[in-house]
Amino acid sequence: MITFCTLQVQMLALVTLTTALDLPSLNFDWQQPLSYLGLAPNNLTATGCEAACTYLTHHLPIPDIQPDNPREYWKEKSFFWSQQQSTISPSCFVQPLTAEHVSTIVKLAREHQCKFAVKSGGHAAFAGASNVQDGMTIDLQFLDMIEVSEDKQTTRVGPGNRWVDVYKHVVPMGLSVVGGRNSEIGVGGLTLGGGISWYSSRYGWALDGVRNYQVVVADGRVLEVDRESYPDLYWALRGGGNNFGVVTRFDFETFPQGDMWGGSVMTGPDSLDRVLDAFHDFAYTGGDDMDAYSFSAFCWYQEHKMFIASTALVYAQPVENPAIFENYTKLESMHSTLKIRDMVSMSDEIGAQAPNGLRNSYWTATFRITREMLQVILDIFMEELEPVKEVEGMIPALIYQPMSNEVLTRFSRNGGNCLGLEGEEGPLLNINYAVMWKNEADDEAVLTAARNTIRRSKEKAKELGLDHRYLYQNYASHEQDVMASYGEENLERLRSISREFDPEQVFQKLQPGYFKL
Ligand SMILES: Cc1cc2nc3c(=O)[nH]c(=O)nc-3n(C[C@H](O)[C@H](O)[C@H](O)COP(=O)(O)OP(=O)(O)OC[C@H]3O[C@@H](n4cnc5c(N)ncnc54)[C@H](O)[C@@H]3O)c2cc1C
Ligand SMILES: *[C@@H]1O[C@H](CO)[C@@H](O)[C@H](O)[C@H]1NC(C)=O
Ligand SMILES: *[C@@H]1O[C@H](CO)[C@@H](O)[C@H](O)[C@H]1NC(C)=O
Repeated sequence: MITFCTLQVQMLALVTLTTALDLPSLNFDWQQPLSYLGLAPNNLTATGCEAACTYLTHHLPIPDIQPDNPREYWKEKSFFWSQQQSTISPSCFVQPLTAEHVSTIVKLAREHQCKFAVKSGGHAAFAGASNVQDGMTIDLQFLDMIEVSEDKQTTRVGPGNRWVDVYKHVVPMGLSVVGGRNSEIGVGGLTLGGGISWYSSRYGWALDGVRNYQVVVADGRVLEVDRESYPDLYWALRGGGNNFGVVTRFDFETFPQGDMWGGSVMTGPDSLDRVLDAFHDFAYTGGDDMDAYSFSAFCWYQEHKMFIASTALVYAQPVENPAIFENYTKLESMHSTLKIRDMVSMSDEIGAQAPNGLRNSYWTATFRITREMLQVILDIFMEELEPVKEVEGMIPALIYQPMSNEVLTRFSRNGGNCLGLEGEEGPLLNINYAVMWKNEADDEAVLTAARNTIRRSKEKAKELGLDHRYLYQNYASHEQDVMASYGEENLERLRSISREFDPEQVFQKLQPGYFKL
């Protein structure tokens, strides 16, 4: 979502971020994903990851790169979004082609006590989330099936896909699924943590639309998990992140969807108050119109030394300027991309400017919504930015998203999810503090501003009685305890499901990255 500001900035052609910054070189050899230490096959003296990697290097088939799947694209898909993740060097980078390969890999990791990480789209921001130093990084990109069922009710999607791959497949058929809004994001991470979509008012988050998971659990079994077959595991996978197994296929509920209207509107420093007014009203009334979805990003625009707001407006019907957005569309805009278009175009616009290889950090918090609270957080955000405004390449954004009553109601579909928000009174405010910058030397200053903004906003919210415990996994920083934020009862249930399917706690101990139980 940070890219959302970048995008606006780019479109104004005032600064060209990707070319202005020279991206750091990666220290891992991506051209040889299956080579690693060069050990001989069946080296009986090798232990740990060396042994597991040796075996896999010699036994996993090398992906068949076809002319229509050019090597450049394939290499590009191996990238991690954030610099913090891309500068980690795993012992090996393995690319399974089937769920059975994944099963072998998990069994080997366990047998050799080799640490591992699992990568889908590689867009998690912090180090170790989907890449692991001196361990085995399991890159799922070749699990890339997309298959719409004959009755068009479900679409089977492999975690090797980016959302744009999915939309390119289903949109020409007049269909869609509840998924990401940015074309480059992976299906795996987004869906396992939540998945806020343009269609969320009507259908909930991406995780609510999964009817079946194919998942490799700790003992290597490949399970088909739905509400009937494994109700507990099904519940746990709906928000449980990477804690329960490696998902090798998601079966998404599928629905008819034609063109939509939307894009983004950029407004200047004088309109920030009115954007907050409009956001407040939309949070309370927007759910009434289930085709409408919107969020606003407040960004420091370094080049021009000003704060701007960039608001995404999307209406899931081909209707221009629907009344529900009147308070946004009547504002004088500096730039607007609103038009009728399909989902591929919509997600490409949002995804176009998410350059790989910069330093990134995401943070989150949840609040109850009053007009005062919206102001308080924005003021704190601006204050805390003062010392870091001139950091090289700094693009900070504070993104407000409403979680309406309608969205919260969808969370109880199909036996519910594990986020701990069922029965909550909405609307809630989801915030994503998203920042990108250029140099590692600035990490401490940049992270201090982000950390302080979240801490002070929560303190103030507690004073006002507006704080909420929930932390959205897909926007959280590694310093935030996501699983505990689901509530004590849910955390206990998740832990007991984990002990049932993973008695040795393989996914807790050998897979150190991301949010643990
Ligand atoms: C530019 C940008 C735009 C975004 N837009 C949205 C948005 O519109 N809506 C939204 O909700 N979120 C959004 N996000 C947040 C996004 O959902 C998270 O960053 C998410 O973790 C990315 O998923 P990924 O597969 O690309 O990442 P990865 O880094 O590959 O995976 C993230 C985590 O999930 C685990 N994982 C991934 N696949 C599997 C699997 N198959 N089995 C087991 N574990 C797995 C990984 O091990 C890792 O820990 C956005 C993020 C960015 C950077
Ligand atoms: C086998 O592995 C050990 C331990 O890592 C290593 O020292 C040795 O050189 C390897 N032997 C061969 C033939 O690769
Ligand atoms: C627009 O703003 C007015 C004045 O605050 C408010 O009464 C109205 O409900 C808002 N419209 C929508 C669709 O939210």
